[in-house]
Amino acid sequence: QGVQPRTPTGAEPSPDEATTAQQGEFLTTSQGARLRDTDHSLKAGRRGPVLLQDHHLREKITHFDHERIPERVVHARGAAAHGVFEGYGTAESVCRAGFLAKGKRTEVFTRFSTVVGSRGSMDTARDTRGFATKFYTDEGTFDLVGNNIPVFFIQDGIKFPDVVHAVKPHSDREIPQAQSAHDTFWDFVSLHTEAQHHTLWSMGDRGIPRSYRMMEGFGIHTFRLSNADGETSLVKFHWKPALGVHSLTWEEAQILGGADPDFHRRDLADAIEAGAYPSWELGIQVFPDNEEQSFEGIDLLDPTKFVPEELAPVQPIGRLTLNRNPRNYFAETEQVAFNPGHLVPGIDVTDDPLLQVRLFSYVDTQLTRLGGPNFAQLPINRAHAPINDMLRDGYGQQGDHSGVAPYHPNSLDGGCPFMAGEMDGAFEDLPVRVPESVKERALSATFEDHFSQARLFWRSMTPVERDHIVDAYSFELGKCYETTIRERQLQSLANIDEDLCARVASALGMSAPASTVPVGEESDGAADSSAPLSQLGG
Ligand code: HEM
Repeated sequence: QGVQPRTPTGAEPSPDEATTAQQGEFLTTSQGARLRDTDHSLKAGRRGPVLLQDHHLREKITHFDHERIPERVVHARGAAAHGVFEGYGTAESVCRAGFLAKGKRTEVFTRFSTVVGSRGSMDTARDTRGFATKFYTDEGTFDLVGNNIPVFFIQDGIKFPDVVHAVKPHSDREIPQAQSAHDTFWDFVSLHTEAQHHTLWSMGDRGIPRSYRMMEGFGIHTFRLSNADGETSLVKFHWKPALGVHSLTWEEAQILGGADPDFHRRDLADAIEAGAYPSWELGIQVFPDNEEQSFEGIDLLDPTKFVPEELAPVQPIGRLTLNRNPRNYFAETEQVAFNPGHLVPGIDVTDDPLLQVRLFSYVDTQLTRLGGPNFAQLPINRAHAPINDMLRDGYGQQGDHSGVAPYHPNSLDGGCPFMAGEMDGAFEDLPVRVPESVKERALSATFEDHFSQARLFWRSMTPVERDHIVDAYSFELGKCYETTIRERQLQSLANIDEDLCARVASALGMSAPASTVPVGEESDGAADSSAPLSQLGG
């Protein structure tokens, strides 16, 4: 009788089996006292009131009352898997990180997610997808916290609360869930036109992936790598799926959303359980570390711009294979804490103003989401490298630290841990020049072009992909109540491409404005923006 518990494929005993597993043949309290009855509360007579002294009842109900933790403020709905990353050794000339060495195998945990919907929303909503990987390397944990679209909505992290407030359901009725069909979304992206490029990608087929196994991933920001000689390069990270990139049609996505809201997480878990392990090649585009931090006229610090692969090919540096489903969704998928600031020697951040703010935000939100400062001790978040960190006490502390002198240097604890020298694999703060400047709340002029790369993307699309994009804009804008917002968005579409605008305007029964961006006067964010490209991001 009843459903048999399933053992996830390849499940391995967790390191904490001895302390947290359910053990022994008898049901017990959390203190290990055997129980005789868990179905009846203790009452003053069979028909009398329940007694406060029922410690088993109180423990059971109290713990249940506190089972939920806050869902992530974004990327709440996700699915994840364990796996292994194997380096090719091809990155050695640009990066000294040990996990990229030829044949080196490193355990990983990857979480895919939608951005907007709540934990219980459907998988197939039109949305950007998160693609976050934790590499448990010998030199510390490296997190590559990316998305399936190579550009982002905004250029400066200070706008992140604003864009998220705009894309989340309206605050009065809490609708719609996980759809871009609403006024605040289109209000935001038409007023903050830097968002137009990302929006165009999500109105395309990449907004409704067929499977997590068939998505590309992008680190988006430019990172700074250093090699064993201390030479630096600027790079962008790419994940290329072995199965190729595939999408659902809009109709499929809608039907699946009703028939099987868990479509993507089921697909991932079933594939791994069946031994059809999904895999991705990690690649990098490499650019010289010049003072402008730009390449072929593209500002590498602007996260709304990508570098076409024709200009900088993606060079493979390793392979990720996901081969083990989580044993426990809460312990692993829900409690995993990614952070773009989890870096290892050889990989560093740049001054991209979006990335700089992300470096603050993730730990900050996790302090609330995971209940205090010790979430790095949770098994899924624990580094596989030795940890000797002088952090002490606090809510949720699991450590029982010995010694009396958690400070450095000290002369009481029988000598203190060594500080690593240059040769001992320490993380190095690269001596990057900071431009001479004054404090100001502004972005550089090279961030001002909001349309030319969107135009490049639109013009690279095949006719059927263009049809899908026009249909998506028409559907989503058709759900927008405010005419002024639709008009403003049509203006942005005209600035991207007048034909795109005319087709969407016609579907909406509105007139199409002319472009207000004189061709050739934008900054050169995309080499020759009139030339269609055969290949964008894959
Ligand atoms: C979560 C990607 C920008 C704040 C996530 C996750 C991904 C992601 C993949 C889910 C991680 C997981 O699976 O647990 C990105 C990308 C960005 C970006 C690719 C831009 C290139 C930002 C910015 C901020 C931000 C600018 C804030 C200023 C957050 C927060 C979470 C999150 C607070 C929830 C983390 C948690 O609760 O553990 N992001 N994000 N993100 N992101 Fe971002």
